Amino acid sequence: MNIRITGTGSALPGRILTNAELETLVDTSDEWITTRTGIKERRIAGEGEYTSTFAAEAGRNALAMAGVDPRELDLIILSTVTPDFPFPSTACIVQDMLGAVNATAFDISAACSGFIYGLSVAEKYLRSGSAKKILIIGSEVLSRIVNWKDRNTCVLFGDGAGAVVLEASEGNHQLCSTHTFSNGAHWNLLYQPGSGSRHPATDSRTIDGEMLHITMEGNEVFKHAVRAMEEASLKALEANGLVADDISLLIPHQANRRIIDATAKRLGIEADRQYTNLHRYGNTSSASIPIALDEANRLNVIKPGGKVLLVAFGGGFAYGSALITW
Ligand code: UT7
Repeated sequence: MNIRITGTGSALPGRILTNAELETLVDTSDEWITTRTGIKERRIAGEGEYTSTFAAEAGRNALAMAGVDPRELDLIILSTVTPDFPFPSTACIVQDMLGAVNATAFDISAACSGFIYGLSVAEKYLRSGSAKKILIIGSEVLSRIVNWKDRNTCVLFGDGAGAVVLEASEGNHQLCSTHTFSNGAHWNLLYQPGSGSRHPATDSRTIDGEMLHITMEGNEVFKHAVRAMEEASLKALEANGLVADDISLLIPHQANRRIIDATAKRLGIEADRQYTNLHRYGNTSSASIPIALDEANRLNVIKPGGKVLLVAFGGGFAYGSALITW
């Protein structure tokens, strides 16, 4: 049985926040942000825009490309660290927005690697015969949990959503493998301290202590990210009997230009075999890979039959890879 990617979609806020505008908010510069991260601008959600609204739009776009009616979906898996509400799942809200009345829907929490985790769970549903058509979405409104007074983090993140439709069938765009990894020893290097059961949002100390924002030891995360993304990539190559030269396109999580460069260098994948868009969107966590995949698909960047390697790393630490034959 083959697993086919039949549709991709994405959705982004219209509002663009440039590095020049950030210079007016915190003590930073376009030069610092560009050289340290590669980011030039990011998209920011406006009033009335939530994780679910971007997720539903990305999902509709992917379903339209696949020619799948929402009522045909068996499963919706949504990855996010910025759900509309702590509960119910944002996936259930999106199910309602799409009219996917026959689908089971749930959220996945794996931070920036959530889309790869979603692919991996979907793969198992399809291989076991438990589902035939699945919508996987990564959607984030990180601008609502970023500390806009902290230059260490506020320059990095952006909002948006990406989605794919996976189906059990013959044909092109085959999902060949997924691999997921977790290393919980470092959970506190990248997390949101407040709003859960340890530091509830209902406790004034949580708000006064500015605990509702993303907290990150950037340097440490950077080192782990490069090693882990190499490990996950090599696992995907090995599982498919491939070497780095066989890869047509590397689509890494879009966190930092230098992380991508270091990972690609270790693997031996040159710039012309990488797809990046972080200069336009910043780090959109679990949305970054499906947004990039949708762009690459619609721009016909991926040659038929080409091998596409997806690789992600993020909070948890959770990381993983997926290999697609296009
Ligand atoms: O999504 C997956 C998880 N996240 C990541 O993968 C992010 C991983 N980490 C990174 O991308 C990088 O570590 C950062 C981009 C966050 C930071 O780059 P860095 O080269 O590791 O810089 P640093 O943290 O070592 O900071 C260097 C200096 C510091 O100044 P001092 O202490 O040397 O005087 C910072 O205060 O840069 C300063 N700095 C800034 N300066 C201007 C930090 N942020 C800024 C800023 N503008 N926005």
